[in-house]
Amino acid sequence: MVRVLFVCLGNICRSPTAEGVFRDLVRREGLSERIETDSCGTGGWHIGNPPDSRACAEAERRGIDLSDLRARQIKESDFEAFDYVLGMDDRNIANLEAMCPASYKDRIKLFLSYASDVGRHDVPDPYYGGPDGFRDVFDMIDKASRGLLADIRTRHPDALG
Ligand code: 4NP
Repeated sequence: MVRVLFVCLGNICRSPTAEGVFRDLVRREGLSERIETDSCGTGGWHIGNPPDSRACAEAERRGIDLSDLRARQIKESDFEAFDYVLGMDDRNIANLEAMCPASYKDRIKLFLSYASDVGRHDVPDPYYGGPDGFRDVFDMIDKASRGLLADIRTRHPDALG
């Protein structure tokens, strides 16, 4: 099993979208028994809440259902439990590195490092913007998800069977 954790600030916009998009890709590739997905926030303001309605609407427009997801906050045991701990922006990465045990630091990566064709290195926070922000974020996440799956296939061929 390969375990992937998507991390943003609130766990209601970017990381649940990433979880939903990547989970759908994994399902379509027939790998749901091999790759486990989850998401969380570095902050705790939205614990227990479903994703932002704008994120849900954009996902639904693309055929992705986020309605079962609920926000939670990162915890120290996540660094041991997940093979990939993927932050959406530099602030997420700094927060993750500050609390991660030294032996697991190499599990922390910027999610867009798997999307060389996007032309930027972070997924911007769409929370205070308009619907265009959610559309753009979705596009970036979609591209990075494909790159991430390719990386998993390269690095964990045995786990994928
Ligand atoms: P996310 O967006 O990190 O992509 O889930 C945010 C959601 C909520 C807040 C900030 C960012 N907030 O400050 O409540």
